[in-house]
Amino acid sequence: MAKKPDQTTIVEYDHVGEADVLELRTQPLPPPAPGEVTVQVICAGISHIDGFIRAGRETDWDEQWPRRSGSEFAGIVVAVGEGAGGFRVGSDVIGHVRAGAHATFVNVPVVALVMKPKSLTWEAAGGMFLSGATALEVLDELKIGASDVVVISAAAGGVGSIQAQVAKHRGATVIGTCGDRNFDYLRQLGIKPVRYGDGIADRIRRAAAGASVTALIDNFGQDGHALVDELGVPAGRYRSSADRREVELRLLRGDPESVAHATDVLARLVDLAQARTFTLLVSGIYPLRRISEAYADLQKLHSRGKVLLGTNMVSSFRTLKARDVHEAVG
Ligand SMILES: NC(=O)c1ccc[n+]([C@@H]2O[C@H](COP(=O)([O-])OP(=O)(O)OC[C@H]3O[C@@H](n4cnc5c(N)ncnc54)[C@H](OP(=O)(O)O)[C@@H]3O)[C@@H](O)[C@H]2O)c1
Repeated sequence: MAKKPDQTTIVEYDHVGEADVLELRTQPLPPPAPGEVTVQVICAGISHIDGFIRAGRETDWDEQWPRRSGSEFAGIVVAVGEGAGGFRVGSDVIGHVRAGAHATFVNVPVVALVMKPKSLTWEAAGGMFLSGATALEVLDELKIGASDVVVISAAAGGVGSIQAQVAKHRGATVIGTCGDRNFDYLRQLGIKPVRYGDGIADRIRRAAAGASVTALIDNFGQDGHALVDELGVPAGRYRSSADRREVELRLLRGDPESVAHATDVLARLVDLAQARTFTLLVSGIYPLRRISEAYADLQKLHSRGKVLLGTNMVSSFRTLKARDVHEAVG
């Protein structure tokens, strides 16, 4: 059993900038307030929107300085405040915060937590919230279902891979854009891979085999607008990368209604993952202290699944990642 902590090591920054502004700081950790628990973070995810906020691209982000990093985590409850519901010391949980998940211990309101099923790995649990909830919210907004032929861009990435698997599970025909390295991965999921870049509209038409494309989700933010016109996607059934950004920022709001909604979406995601509707693939995992390397990896824009941070990694020895094998042998 993890011991009750009086300190936490947390990632903070004092001004906007690249990942090198991030610092690990050890601070006193107060006991959990009423309605809160203390969670020992085992695994946390990183996402592009964290990086955009840190770099000052999200000008409406009004958190006090110093600012904290990270919004998704999984861990073990190590202390319980009054009125913490069914959460007990030793409970495995998955949670979300507006900022501050990149830490060894966090105090979190129980309204932002769900129980982690034993069948989910710490990695899948810790990286699930923001990408998965974004994926699900966009699919729900578009009401993607069995009659759809949907194009999903960056279909092997953090958001796209979850989105494509869930869309497929709903019965849709899913065409996913990716580079050559990800063709086999997407095919294994039953998703039709199409290479991004010049001539993509023709390749999508071929993949659709005569069917009309009924919806298009542009996660990457490159080909979307042009493709909607070229493919004749119905008005209202397109989501741009900017729309997706809005969804992400909504999921990070701190007001009680938004937190409750985000937790509901997280609970649905956990159910879907437990039912193996989707599998969260680990693109890379880094010790917390190597967070800037984790962001450098994400910013290469070739993740297959999620880039994660571990707080208790047995070894930081790096092995060849599965997604690098294509390049290594090619
Ligand atoms: N507009 C916004 O505010 C906003 C918000 C969040 C994210 N984004 C962007 O959305 C993208 C995907 O998000 P994510 O969180 O899923 O990121 P991610 O995990 O970093 O996505 C990586 C995936 O993007 C694919 N990719 C690379 N170049 C591409 C291209 N030209 N067209 C289509 N796909 C391409 C890669 O496939 P291969 O490895 O096979 O090349 C890889 O699987 C990121 O580039 C991110 O910057 C934009």
